[in-house]
Amino acid sequence: MKTLQDLSDLTGKKVIVRVDFNVPLDDAGNVRDDKRIRHTIPTLKYLLEAGASQVILMSHVGRPKNNEPNLKTDKIAAKLSELIGEKVAKVDDWGEKGLPDAKVVMLENLRFHPGEKSKDEAEAEAFSKQLAGLADVYVNEAFSNSHRKHASMMLPKLMPGCVGFGVEKEVSAIKKALESPEHPVVAVIGGLKADKLTAINNLLNIADDILVAGALAFTLLKAQGKSMGASKIDDEGLGEMGELVEKMKGNEKIHLPVDCVVADKFAEDASSKDVSVDEVEDGWMALDIGPETVGHYVAKLKEAKTILWFGPIGVFEMEKFSHGTKMIGRTIAESDAVSIVGGGDSASAVEAMGLTDRMTLVSTGGGASLQMIEGKELPAIKILE
Ligand code: 3PG
Repeated sequence: MKTLQDLSDLTGKKVIVRVDFNVPLDDAGNVRDDKRIRHTIPTLKYLLEAGASQVILMSHVGRPKNNEPNLKTDKIAAKLSELIGEKVAKVDDWGEKGLPDAKVVMLENLRFHPGEKSKDEAEAEAFSKQLAGLADVYVNEAFSNSHRKHASMMLPKLMPGCVGFGVEKEVSAIKKALESPEHPVVAVIGGLKADKLTAINNLLNIADDILVAGALAFTLLKAQGKSMGASKIDDEGLGEMGELVEKMKGNEKIHLPVDCVVADKFAEDASSKDVSVDEVEDGWMALDIGPETVGHYVAKLKEAKTILWFGPIGVFEMEKFSHGTKMIGRTIAESDAVSIVGGGDSASAVEAMGLTDRMTLVSTGGGASLQMIEGKELPAIKILE
């Protein structure tokens, strides 16, 4: 990857930076979580200190259908201004009028323009050209959108570019953990959906142990023929699990829960009990892994030298069903292993437990990091190699 250090003298240059300020907003468009904005500050400060004449920021926000006003970037620009200590000029219409003469500029939501996500190559390229025309140099500081081949991610086709410090750190850490990790490598794969099957298949070539949890595990147990009562099952994914279930026969790498915490309803005040995965009764749903499984998973994690954690273990938002997630999180935090946490929900769980600083890397991107774990390239990174 080309990095900021590879850029020649930036003095007097205009730099356009693709950031991912797709941050949680309230109904009025106020920023509820500024993590992704804070993450870009070192790169933005570096560019300003290196003498860039203008730093132009561009991002998408949400998935607008009709240029909804609450998805405008005004309040995000104001938040950035507060964090960086510089005035940030928000620009609605840069196409016609060009840009104001300000040091830091933030463009309107890129997805308000049909070219950004267009499948029509000519339309997408025309939009890329328009954006590229605003600056001399491009920086990708949007790891979490780097799995998208959208117009604003593809500017290096047209101009010199590199990755920012955040992308450099994230891609290098995940690559190292996948390509030259210290063994044993233990992967914890949880979450709601069976869309992690490709990741599990790829991890079979990398990891020494794969500990499966969350609804994904309960779906796999169901695919093995167990009755999982009223547990949340990814019915769509169930059909695709057959191949993995076959692979698991005689394969000791993949571990499934042997017990779980079941509840009589999906609520904090539900009645709950620990049962074997062979004894989930009708009407009861598994909402966390059970104590025996926790013990087994914790023991595996204690032996690990590299840990990859994607997806929560149970319904950690409810105290009663958060034990598995807490125990896994704490064990990883206390370990000396290289630890990579990916996926929005596991990142939130780690943050809620106050353990973010004790992990080697908590990825800013769910989809992008998952795509790397699946062994696939990120188009917006590939273009900068
Ligand atoms: C994300 O939050 O994962 C990225 O910003 C991508 O957003 P998208 O899933 O709407 O493309």
